[in-house]
Amino acid sequence: MLSPVLIWLIFGITGISCADKCSWTNCPKWPKIEGGINVHIIPHTHDDLGWIKTVDEYYTGSKSKLVPVGVQYIFNTVIDELQKSPDRRFSYAETGFLTRWLEDHDSKQIDTLKRLVSTGQFEFIGGGWVQPDEAASHYVELIDQYTLGLRKLNETFGECGRPKVAWQIDPFGHSREHANLVALIGYEALFFSRIHYLDQDVRIRDKNLEFIWNASDDLKTNILTGIFYLWGYGPPPGFCYDALCNDEPIIDNIALEGYNIDERVDQFLKYVKEKASHQKHNNVMILMGGDFTFSNANMWYTNLDKLIRAANSKSKETKITLTYSTPTCYVQALNAAGPSLSQKSDDFFPYASSNHSYWTGYFTSKPALKGLIRKSSSILQLVRQLNSFATSKNGEDLRGVEVLERAVGLSMHHDAVTGTSKENVTRDYERRLLRGINVGEEILNKAVQKLAKKGKNSTELPRQTLCNLLNESVCEASRQKKFTVTVFNGNAHEMNSIARIPYYGSSCIVKSADNEEVVHQIGKTFFPQTHKNISGIAPNELTFSVRVPALGFKTYFVNEEAVSHIEGLKSTVSSTKRRIRKKKATTKTISNSIIRLSFNEDGYLAQMKDLKTGTVHELSQEFFYYEGMSDLNHTTQATGAYIFRPIENESKRFESKIQLEIIELHRRAFHDDSWGVEEPLDEPGEDGRGLVVRGKHWLLLGTPDEILQLQRTAAYELFYEPTITFATYESIDVYNKNFVGEFSGITKALPPEINLLTLKRLSPDSILLRLEHIFQNGENPNLSTPIKLDIENLFTRFEIISMEELNLAGNVQSGIIRNWPNSWNSSKRRVKNLPREGISVELKPMEIKTWRLSVIEKMP
Ligand SMILES: *[C@@H]1O[C@H](CO)[C@@H](O)[C@H](O)[C@H]1NC(C)=O
Ligand SMILES: *[C@@H]1O[C@H](CO)[C@@H](O)[C@H](O)[C@H]1NC(C)=O
Ligand SMILES: *[C@@H]1O[C@H](CO)[C@@H](O)[C@H](O)[C@H]1NC(C)=O
Ligand SMILES: *[C@@H]1O[C@H](CO)[C@@H](O)[C@H](O)[C@H]1NC(C)=O
Ligand SMILES: *[C@@H]1O[C@H](CO)[C@@H](O)[C@H](O)[C@H]1NC(C)=O
Ligand SMILES: *[C@@H]1O[C@H](CO)[C@@H](O)[C@H](O)[C@H]1NC(C)=O
Ligand SMILES: *[C@@H]1O[C@H](CO)[C@@H](O)[C@H](O)[C@H]1NC(C)=O
Ligand SMILES: *[C@@H]1O[C@H](CO)[C@@H](O)[C@H](O)[C@H]1NC(C)=O
Ligand SMILES: *[C@@H]1O[C@H](CO)[C@@H](O)[C@H](O)[C@H]1NC(C)=O
Ligand SMILES: *[C@@H]1O[C@H](CO)[C@@H](O)[C@H](O)[C@H]1NC(C)=O
Ligand SMILES: *[C@@H]1O[C@H](CO)[C@@H](O)[C@H](O)[C@H]1NC(C)=O
Repeated sequence: MLSPVLIWLIFGITGISCADKCSWTNCPKWPKIEGGINVHIIPHTHDDLGWIKTVDEYYTGSKSKLVPVGVQYIFNTVIDELQKSPDRRFSYAETGFLTRWLEDHDSKQIDTLKRLVSTGQFEFIGGGWVQPDEAASHYVELIDQYTLGLRKLNETFGECGRPKVAWQIDPFGHSREHANLVALIGYEALFFSRIHYLDQDVRIRDKNLEFIWNASDDLKTNILTGIFYLWGYGPPPGFCYDALCNDEPIIDNIALEGYNIDERVDQFLKYVKEKASHQKHNNVMILMGGDFTFSNANMWYTNLDKLIRAANSKSKETKITLTYSTPTCYVQALNAAGPSLSQKSDDFFPYASSNHSYWTGYFTSKPALKGLIRKSSSILQLVRQLNSFATSKNGEDLRGVEVLERAVGLSMHHDAVTGTSKENVTRDYERRLLRGINVGEEILNKAVQKLAKKGKNSTELPRQTLCNLLNESVCEASRQKKFTVTVFNGNAHEMNSIARIPYYGSSCIVKSADNEEVVHQIGKTFFPQTHKNISGIAPNELTFSVRVPALGFKTYFVNEEAVSHIEGLKSTVSSTKRRIRKKKATTKTISNSIIRLSFNEDGYLAQMKDLKTGTVHELSQEFFYYEGMSDLNHTTQATGAYIFRPIENESKRFESKIQLEIIELHRRAFHDDSWGVEEPLDEPGEDGRGLVVRGKHWLLLGTPDEILQLQRTAAYELFYEPTITFATYESIDVYNKNFVGEFSGITKALPPEINLLTLKRLSPDSILLRLEHIFQNGENPNLSTPIKLDIENLFTRFEIISMEELNLAGNVQSGIIRNWPNSWNSSKRRVKNLPREGISVELKPMEIKTWRLSVIEKMP
């Protein structure tokens, strides 16, 4: 009877002692040599989640003719090799690939990896789902992909799975805001390699490759930052021991032909000394690895073992010691050395790798993918909110949300959102996003079903359909004579906007659930001529103004039949149409009650009049384009997916009069720019005449004070673009009996300076909440101030039982604010009747705070 207890005890003790030895508590011990150099040998691999092959092809190793690599083999062989010697170390960054491996292996193999993590041989660095791009990505998506990756590491590996070093070794330039985010996540340092070549020269000369980055004027965050010396993230020249390299092995047996150990060690130490001469301390980090290296880890460790052994045998005379290490152990050594470091407070953009190679082309490459990512991300935010309001007791919906989270996280990869992957790979990203949106649509339906039903007796809510081609004026669901339009607002402020939907009829009546008629217009569809032949395109567009409560939805009823009933009596619709036509024919101004815009002879915007104050502003507007450099002979840098290189400095003006229907902003290039993707950036579109992508450009007109405020709030309105669903209905009366026509997840809209960044259900009784202050210090006299917010009764569908503050990525606690006694959760009535202070949170300008809330459902 005793033995099970004993076994449990032994396991328990082993568990505790392992947890005490994460890589950073088990760093190499260095000999004390006066003036000696300590060399951190850091085996690693850089694994792109899609580029030349798709992410799954890279994982499995398929399509080896394209690139002969497979990430599964990297994990398998590294794990084998690490077990052969406790000195060997490995560092791994991309949680998107790690997760594939975990889901593809049994618990025995996973336990082996866990053991290596808990003894510090295997260290996680970076740890986001991918190494995200920092220019074309949105910060909400950056935070999401870190959260997804880091929480997964915490779940699987606990404390030792927490990366301490942010690792962005391949992305094409670096933003200060990303540095701010990783500082807020709590990383101790940030490493990367790609900065402007001239900046790199100067930093090498002045020993400034390592410095402190001031990441935010408002929050005063900063982070230790290190840029790699010369060879990017690869090994010193001549020391690559991988199936992908051709370097000579190290031969230390004199009996074998090619014996070269002395010469190899000398060459290595020469490189170490050269590198050390460009830094302010004697710890030298040598990266051993590169793109998809270590699929034969034995090759690496066999050679590195020999190099380390031979070099250390001479360390008395050379004063140089080599040891396997990890980035976190390097940072520990750097902290201990404590050299005085310079500071920096701006971006590392644009990145140029040489005089004609400015990596700014990718800011606009593949705009359709970029647009789809933005749309998927706003659907993700919405679906997570709805799923938080409609409690689900099973984990199925949480797994569903993760399908979309993974697709959006993946799209942040620095070859995805950048538009620098092969066309087939781009399609794969799009397929994954669309699959995620489809799952999102299911979850949305389940949630709305629950939120809209008035009582247990209500019928089933008709299925809500997302029309994925609204941007091309195509929507099967709006072909019906009668349909509902439900507009969702994911922003924590009320939305006053215009719904614009493809319409196949020529007249209708639009009503809200309270039977009020809504003002609307029907116009010719607004879509480029070239695409008129897309099948299913609606001839007309129906627009009407919508007012949707914060974090909520509102349903509108469109009825074509209703018009024919009253047409004989009086038709408001046709009179509206007549008025519009007349206006178009005779005047070049448009106005409403607030402003009047005038256009000149050529069709360009020329004047704006503020009708309230009578102020007139003259404007000029022109369209320009650049002609790209071509290179058929590979003799010069061509413009392409990565690089923007115009033939001439000056941009060219479109001379023609403009027809406002023609939209042609986006980049198309016919040559590869020779940075690896090996395809020209050419998206011909469905009709072969060049892809047309419809975008939105908001022009804010007003006084500087008004605009300063508007540009902040409008940015969030754009980001949380309304999501619209369509469904059938019988009659407004029947609908009203069964369902609510309007819903809000919060009791009052948040103040204008506060944005609700994330509301995500973590488990049936916990929710992740992020709030942020969106104004900077000094930007607005009224709104750039700290604000206190009582969130106790903020949410309509759940009650907050307790909350703990987490770091930005939600993977570790940053301090418990308050914790209610257990007994308070036991019954809803008691919770409500107990005296409670309000839950007040304070946000300073630009601050983001993250909490895990324990919640119970409120009865509606
Ligand atoms: C960075 O921040 C520190 C402390 O806030 C300040 O002393 C320093 O001047 C700043 N450096 C730069 C380059 O802005
Ligand atoms: C730019 O680089 C090319 C090739 O690298 C070189 O021939 C040329 O002289 C450089 N131009 C300038 C202005 O540095
Ligand atoms: C690209 O995708 C198409 C369609 O799936 C496939 O036929 C083709 O082989 C792929 N090309 C490459 C290079 O993978
Ligand atoms: C629900 O339906 C049942 C049976 O049809 C009826 O007895 C009951 O009163 C209804 N409840 C409500 C709230 O309408
Ligand atoms: C429209 O597309 C169809 C086939 O998809 C084609 O036969 C027809 O000629 C096209 N019409 C125009 C006007 O381009
Ligand atoms: C490129 O090659 C073509 C023919 O192969 C030749 O006519 C042309 O002069 C070359 N251009 C340059 C810039 O070398
Ligand atoms: C482009 O502008 C730069 C800087 O103004 C100037 O040095 C260069 O000569 C210009 N090049 C051309 C081709 O006009
Ligand atoms: C519309 O969106 C889809 C993705 O949902 C995209 O593939 C397509 O290119 C977009 N079309 C335009 C004209 O922007
Ligand atoms: C700040 O608030 C005051 C008082 O409400 C108002 O008069 C002023 O216009 C506001 N300033 C800005 C920049 O919004
Ligand atoms: C981290 O993971 C542990 C289990 O490994 C869990 O107990 C803890 O709640 C997690 N932390 C967060 C912030 O989710
Ligand atoms: C009540 O809430 C606290 C704080 O979140 C939690 O630790 C405890 O498990 C909860 N108790 C019950 C019975 O749910």
